[in-house]
Amino acid sequence: MVTSSIYQKRVWFITGSSKGLGRALAETVLERGETVVLTARNPEQIKDLAASFPEHTLAVQLDVTKPEEVREAVKQAITNFGRIDVLVNNAGYGVLGAIEEVRNEEVRRQFETNFFAVLEVLRTVLPHMRQQRSGHILNISSVGGFVSYAGTGIYNGTKFAIEGISEALAQEVTPLGIKITIVEPGAFRTNFVTRSLVITDIQINDYEKVIGAMRKDARDILDMKLEFNEPGDPKKAALAMIKAVDSDNPPLRLVLGEDAISAINAKLDSVKAELDAWTEVSVDTTFDEVVLAK
Ligand SMILES: NC(=O)c1ccc[n+]([C@@H]2O[C@H](COP(=O)([O-])OP(=O)(O)OC[C@H]3O[C@@H](n4cnc5c(N)ncnc54)[C@H](OP(=O)(O)O)[C@@H]3O)[C@@H](O)[C@H]2O)c1
Repeated sequence: MVTSSIYQKRVWFITGSSKGLGRALAETVLERGETVVLTARNPEQIKDLAASFPEHTLAVQLDVTKPEEVREAVKQAITNFGRIDVLVNNAGYGVLGAIEEVRNEEVRRQFETNFFAVLEVLRTVLPHMRQQRSGHILNISSVGGFVSYAGTGIYNGTKFAIEGISEALAQEVTPLGIKITIVEPGAFRTNFVTRSLVITDIQINDYEKVIGAMRKDARDILDMKLEFNEPGDPKKAALAMIKAVDSDNPPLRLVLGEDAISAINAKLDSVKAELDAWTEVSVDTTFDEVVLAK
């Protein structure tokens, strides 16, 4: 499956390498002898990793919401290594609150980081991959990029948007030798719930029944009154992502975790059941004179 010469030379560019899934992936890739452009808002957080693998890393400051930093980071990667083989759009965070409770500014901030920044990084790296006629882009979505949940709808919106552009992008760039994989993790034990979740300050009583328990649990976890042991192991997520990149036939969607698999299966079943139940109404919307090919 793996061509060792390519494998030795591969250059990865990972956003949000400071902690969580991004860091686990960077460490695992480096342990395998590959090269990583480590990026973080605060480069202090990646200094240790860069020092452990000085010949195989470049540590760059990158807040993905700053286009000038995106341009500079990609430029440095190309200047140093001459190529980017694997781009991992990983940096992200979540907002917890009902659709009506999340302030406009917070909605926009959430889309800036989880969607527009990914688009910016993609569009900055793609010209190099097109020139190479090779490359693999992993867009870290979520099980929540396929299934939406009460209380995280704005976050889900950002991840659904990522899935939407990724599907189209895959069709556009596959003929150019570039592969796209959407990664859909379930719950993984990172800093996501403790450090990367913003709980809205607006609370509308009518929504308490539906999302009150979720909000309370999130607060209790932050206050260390509740221990939350996510089942997913970031190291194993890293190995699964590497397996997809090593594959000659990588998936468009890589689902990570049993919890994610069962949530996605449940959604597929319910979409299919609803599609079947309403098919007659759906097809009865065509002009009478139009005969569609079966
Ligand atoms: N953990 C899960 O259960 C889970 C499930 C599904 C999807 N995901 C997705 O996985 C990705 C990584 O999350 P995680 O679980 O590893 O959480 P994490 O441990 O909290 O890590 C989040 C990473 O994103 C970085 N980041 C956030 N905003 C940034 C920005 N503007 N510029 C650059 N970096 C930024 C953080 O950097 P700082 O150190 O500077 O904050 C950190 O490195 C996210 O896209 C998340 O939506 C996670």
